[in-house]
Amino acid sequence: MKEWLNKIESADSTEILESLRVETLGKKGILTLEFSKLKDIPNTEKKAFAQNLNEQKSLINTALEIRKEVLVQIELDKELEAEKIDVTKFNNSLSCGAVHPVIDTMDRVITYFQNLNFAVEEGQLVEDDFHNFEALNLPKHHPARDMQDTFYNKDYTLLRTHTSPVQIRTMLKQSIPIRMIAPGTVFRKDFDITHTPMFHQIEALVVDKADKISFANLKHVLEEFLHHMFGDVEVRFRPSFFPFTEPSAEVDISCVFCEGKGCRVCSQTGWIEILGCGIVDENVFKAVGYENVSGYAFGVGIERLAMLIHNIGDLRSLFESDLRLLGQFK
Ligand code: PHE
Repeated sequence: MKEWLNKIESADSTEILESLRVETLGKKGILTLEFSKLKDIPNTEKKAFAQNLNEQKSLINTALEIRKEVLVQIELDKELEAEKIDVTKFNNSLSCGAVHPVIDTMDRVITYFQNLNFAVEEGQLVEDDFHNFEALNLPKHHPARDMQDTFYNKDYTLLRTHTSPVQIRTMLKQSIPIRMIAPGTVFRKDFDITHTPMFHQIEALVVDKADKISFANLKHVLEEFLHHMFGDVEVRFRPSFFPFTEPSAEVDISCVFCEGKGCRVCSQTGWIEILGCGIVDENVFKAVGYENVSGYAFGVGIERLAMLIHNIGDLRSLFESDLRLLGQFK
């Protein structure tokens, strides 16, 4: 008897306790078997025998009940502990987003020029022929219009092919001195490894009194800017043509991948073309009614910069929203 009570007291799960109950009080339990012996006991001893068995039965029952209460509590505590949620704990399995490399690059350029006191102008994406072409010295049927594969709307408005129309809008609403940048989206019918139909540019325009702004100013600002973005690279100005600037230049930097030795990215030339610029053409000033002024302008492609800064090979991958690529810019 004592042995069973000990077993019950040290049972460490409700399952073990239940099997102890079956072994003692169950249909074939030892006490049940003892009770079945009652019929063979002489009448005189029956009462004492039954009394003894009933006492044992109640001792075991009480022990089972006490132990059960303890074990149920222990098991409940364990379960609660296992299911506990710490709502204050930081869940670092949550993935958080990153700034897209194009936006990040755009922000860097904007901040750089804002620090030089350039104002930020926005303009508009749907433009008209006057602001996108005509006022920029690109009259109708001018062959240079072919340089830009334009998306036209039915009502003869168009999606701006460059940020240069913001120059016109700013000069029409403001007087000199002007010192502005225009970051934004532009559109051209073009799609291959180096072209997407939508891309980003930042335009800059500086205008002041006649003879105040020279090519030397432009050259200095661009050299400083490109060294800020790319470190110790060489900068070269190549004579070029844009209808809205005269003289015009395209600006190259020594290839950031091969340091000018020649590689696949720079088509073995050692140079990478980075932006277009020039002294604002007199005809542009005429179109907005400015007289006796001088100015420079440049336009830079943001994707180009982002690809060089982040070593991205295919321009199109910037617009595919592939999280494996974007996740690398956290
Ligand atoms: N608008 C030109 C382009 O999109 C770039 C440019 C801007 C060139 C300003 C000169 C001056 O290619």
